[in-house]
Amino acid sequence: MIAVDRDPSAPGFAYADRRAIVSTEDERAIDRLARAERVDAVIAPGIDFPVAIAARVAQALGLPHPLSPTAAVLATNKQRQRERLAEAGVPQPRSRVLDDGSEALEFPCVVKAPDRQGQRGLTLVRERSELAAAVRAAREASRSGHVLVEEVVEGPEITVNGFSIGGSFHPLTVTDRLTADPPAFGVALAHVWPSPHDVAEVAGRAAEALGIVDGPSYTQIRLGSHEPRVIEVAARLGGGHDAELCQAALGVDLNGLALSAALGDAVEAPKLVARVGGACVRFLVAREGTLDALRGIEEAEAVEGVRWARTYRRPGHVFGPLRIGSDRAGALLAVGASREEALARAADAASRIRFDVVDAGVAV
Ligand SMILES: Nc1ncnc2c1ncn2[C@@H]1O[C@H](COP(=O)(O)OP(=O)(O)OP(=O)(O)O)[C@@H](O)[C@H]1O
Ligand SMILES: [Mg+2]
Repeated sequence: MIAVDRDPSAPGFAYADRRAIVSTEDERAIDRLARAERVDAVIAPGIDFPVAIAARVAQALGLPHPLSPTAAVLATNKQRQRERLAEAGVPQPRSRVLDDGSEALEFPCVVKAPDRQGQRGLTLVRERSELAAAVRAAREASRSGHVLVEEVVEGPEITVNGFSIGGSFHPLTVTDRLTADPPAFGVALAHVWPSPHDVAEVAGRAAEALGIVDGPSYTQIRLGSHEPRVIEVAARLGGGHDAELCQAALGVDLNGLALSAALGDAVEAPKLVARVGGACVRFLVAREGTLDALRGIEEAEAVEGVRWARTYRRPGHVFGPLRIGSDRAGALLAVGASREEALARAADAASRIRFDVVDAGVAV
């Protein structure tokens, strides 16, 4: 297996036979590498933009691939996706592409870059005075230069990790996405299984509308006042340790399924048997400042039901305010007899982890 990343210290390299210091966004370099190495398959498991690159490279090389390049574009461009979901009658927030910012808008609204993920360029705009800065941030993040404005869907948020086989959609983990308070917007602090909300059907309709007939999908849904509405569908594994949560909750190897789909292997519908009553991924957040030392990971992992705890950062990293997903400091996974017990164990474990952060030369 060959892993590509522009960052020589990327943690994923540890799992690969070979590494290539190539950006996952460099389509020509990935195409050349795939040809030279005569690979059997190309997969972009956890990030959006390369999903479309993998689909195009696989097609150009005549390799099996679960996604057509057309479906891959619909899955990685929020603007094209909104159009397609509208044609298919899948419920979603109202949206429009912003022209010059002077048109009539209703507030609050959500402003976003159509072709980014991880909350880059994403802002909840509460009133007109906040619009200009939000549009600037979205335009800066946007690859196309376009900016999308959306109606705000209030209400609980749910994620559906699904897997499609020959056009039939199998919902796997359906989790509640608990998000951070303002000024952060849309940043997940926990994914909790099982969700009491039954939204698998709309996730299946959304995946079908985008032409995701094989392979994983990750659908974000908010329960509006009348009906569930689709915030976004990605044609990949969830990036919040979703495969590990799925393994803990249902004993299903989502990573393995995604690899089989990428290789064009026959995939059987996974059998879903709950392994535990509840499970959650809880993200860790550090105070602002420079990370000096990390303590308590072993203690956290010793808490009953805690499968693992990890930090994303090494000493020397400078934490800013929590604004987007990559500002988070780490995560842990906990299971229990119920979702409440999993959450309580996760909270207990998180309280044992200390990010010693220094600012102005003072350790705290
Ligand atoms: N129109 C909306 N109404 C309500 N909440 C929204 C809306 N758009 C985005 N959000 C919130 O922001 C989060 C991220 O939104 P979105 O998926 O559009 O951005 P992203 O940059 O792709 O983020 P992610 O990588 O988490 O998917 C959503 O999960 C939701 O909490
Ligand atoms: Mg998204």
